[in-house]
Amino acid sequence: MGITYSQAKEKLEAFGQEHILCYYEELKEEEKQALLAQIEGTDFSVTAFCANKEELVKKGRISPLKAMELPEIEENRETFCKLGEEALLAGKVGAVLLAGGMGTRLGSDDPKGMYDIGLTKEVYIFERLISNLLEVVRKVDTWIHFFVMTSEKNHDATVNFLKEHDFFGYRSDYVHFFSQEMAPAADYSGKVYMESKYRFSTSPNGNGGWYISMKNKGMSDIVRQAGIEWLNVFAVDNVLQRIADPVFVGAVLDKNCDVGAKVVRKNAPDEKVGVICLEDGRPSIVEYYELTEELMSAKDEKGDPAYNFGVILNYLFRVSALDEILEKKLPLHVVEKKIPYMDAEGNFQKPEEPNGYKFENLVLDMIHQLENCLPFEVIREKEFAPIKNKTGIDSVESARKLLLENGVEL
Ligand code: UTP
Repeated sequence: MGITYSQAKEKLEAFGQEHILCYYEELKEEEKQALLAQIEGTDFSVTAFCANKEELVKKGRISPLKAMELPEIEENRETFCKLGEEALLAGKVGAVLLAGGMGTRLGSDDPKGMYDIGLTKEVYIFERLISNLLEVVRKVDTWIHFFVMTSEKNHDATVNFLKEHDFFGYRSDYVHFFSQEMAPAADYSGKVYMESKYRFSTSPNGNGGWYISMKNKGMSDIVRQAGIEWLNVFAVDNVLQRIADPVFVGAVLDKNCDVGAKVVRKNAPDEKVGVICLEDGRPSIVEYYELTEELMSAKDEKGDPAYNFGVILNYLFRVSALDEILEKKLPLHVVEKKIPYMDAEGNFQKPEEPNGYKFENLVLDMIHQLENCLPFEVIREKEFAPIKNKTGIDSVESARKLLLENGVEL
């Protein structure tokens, strides 16, 4: 049995969200049940943080963290590669694709991975990523468990698309889907938007919940049974990245770190990427908008910028370290976004401009919870082609150019 109307009302009142029940009396029985179930399964406490959202993500004392740079990687390439390949062959590494985001900036209603970036033929984002992973599968001659995080909003479309395309050549019994949790979405005063009379607006709760969602959805059993000790988490939008890259895996193993982060040398001091650093002596990432003038112009002993390496959302986490931090709470990010909603006249609206807040946890905040991190430099022209927008910076256009430069046929 789910919660009753009065229990739902009480829960909502605690967070000033009683308006969610304002159409209740006109609903059909199954709609009433659907709304009550949605209320029961939702944590509304996040909406209380709209007023003091800046307070939530206050940083500690920032200092530089050295990255392993290209010359050092080149010098040790063979050793790292061998170590990494051994770990892959022993089945110790899994790959986790974070594909639960809404990709609103790209403006397609389909999951971002279904976007066709081809010019003379169809080339889907999912296809590119799987093809990159398949290169390692073939080289090492072993299959790698491939977990795909979706959200309630794009789960079915993602699963159907990949099935229809035969997983672009990936072995289907090595592909595992799981859906992340949702969070309510609110207007600027913190009132949750309605999507219809019996459903309030929600959005995926950010990419930081990926490991908890893996646990909740039974993926950890697969991880345990397969003997996976490392999980390489990566974003859906970087079509050039190397996944389960043996050299990266080997370097993290060699340095015995709890996490490795692929980083690129920034192309400008104010480039919009999160920068790897230490915060109160622990590894951390400062977002570009948190980077003060002082940090931007700080130099290291060689005269290079002290905060010169940006993360590209490709991390290798030690599973046992993830288990240890599972209970810790990640900071909440209150993010301004465009939220589809039902207006007072009952019409569904898809706003062109941001109209409220979503509530997210971010994977980058997990880095700060771990004892040590290896920032591992990769060549940006070879491994960083993010697709956030249709045109301009970090777009379909810029990614196509980089893919072509790297010899990928489009
Ligand atoms: P972004 O920060 O680019 O967010 O996600 P987004 O929602 O996809 O795109 P916009 O901002 O609406 O345009 C970075 C990575 O994290 C994943 C995305 O799918 C992408 O791979 N992500 C993001 C999730 O898996 N879940 C989320 O809740 C948010």
